[in-house]
Amino acid sequence: MIYAVTFNPSVDMVFALPTPLHPGDTYNHIPWTAYAGGKGNNVARAINQLGGPVTAVGFYGGAMGLLMRQLLAEQHIPCLKESVRGSSRVSLTLLQEKITEVRGQGPEVSHRKSRTLLERLRRRLTSRDWITLSGSLPPGLSADDITEWVHTLRPHCQGIIADLAGDNLLAAYKAEVTAVCPNAAEYQPLAHELGTHNRMNLVITEGPLGVLWYPPDPFPTERIYAPAVTVKNPVGAGDVFLGSLVYGLWQGQDWRSALIRAVAAASASVATEGVSEIDLALFQEILPHVYMEPA
Ligand SMILES: Nc1ncnc2c1ncn2[C@@H]1O[C@H](COP(=O)(O)OP(=O)(O)OP(=O)(O)O)[C@@H](O)[C@H]1O
Ligand SMILES: [Mg+2]
Repeated sequence: MIYAVTFNPSVDMVFALPTPLHPGDTYNHIPWTAYAGGKGNNVARAINQLGGPVTAVGFYGGAMGLLMRQLLAEQHIPCLKESVRGSSRVSLTLLQEKITEVRGQGPEVSHRKSRTLLERLRRRLTSRDWITLSGSLPPGLSADDITEWVHTLRPHCQGIIADLAGDNLLAAYKAEVTAVCPNAAEYQPLAHELGTHNRMNLVITEGPLGVLWYPPDPFPTERIYAPAVTVKNPVGAGDVFLGSLVYGLWQGQDWRSALIRAVAAASASVATEGVSEIDLALFQEILPHVYMEPA
């Protein structure tokens, strides 16, 4: 099983606006889609689309929490949830030439709740399982909680990959996850602290440029080139990348094959309007054209 953790899940509402956004205007009859979102849930939906076994793990509250669990259930994605007071958040994406994102604030999560969910997840783990830790933390949780999650879970699973930002990513790195997977903007401020080439994989996603992979010592740095695709919605591409990567590793693929497939899947997701939705036909078409070479 792959457990995709979303600390701060969100109902993601996506509206495809036909005309440029103008403050003060009203837009009627706009096509929209609702997703069980937050980055970890995007990862879960990507794994599910690729046919992998995944459980969405997270803190859920109120009517929005119920809605997300319903949306996950409609896709047959099981959920390991801890209920919290207050309401899970809503985020809004307005698709046009330039994408506008509005992200709501999530409900407070206490350390006690964090430990309860952590313990329930730990009890489920087998040594074959993989875990992803994604996205922002809700109010009440901090980088210390990330350290606790990694130290508790790491001995009981095959691997953990963290796609977090700032202090939270650094905490995961210092606690020795299997890999950290920031995008270029998240990596930049941490470049001095995330040393390259040690025991861990450092994977930096760079949008249309593809991915830079620093494998553990002593292997050289590699770049995986992303193929050119028609961009419709790049939001969640990093989550598809992570979902596909961890699914490949779970299947027993080596890192090189899993990374190449993950770049193809991520690129095939930016060509759809959906968030983290993969055009599976395009994925098969572009896969043979994705390659890796020393950076
Ligand atoms: N314009 C693009 N053309 C082709 N492939 C793309 C493009 N944008 C993203 N990708 C693919 O998606 C991968 C991840 O993209 P990116 O670095 O933008 O992730 P991200 O910033 O974490 O995204 P998000 O946070 O929205 O999930 C890239 O490595 C690449 O394979
Ligand atoms: Mg990302």
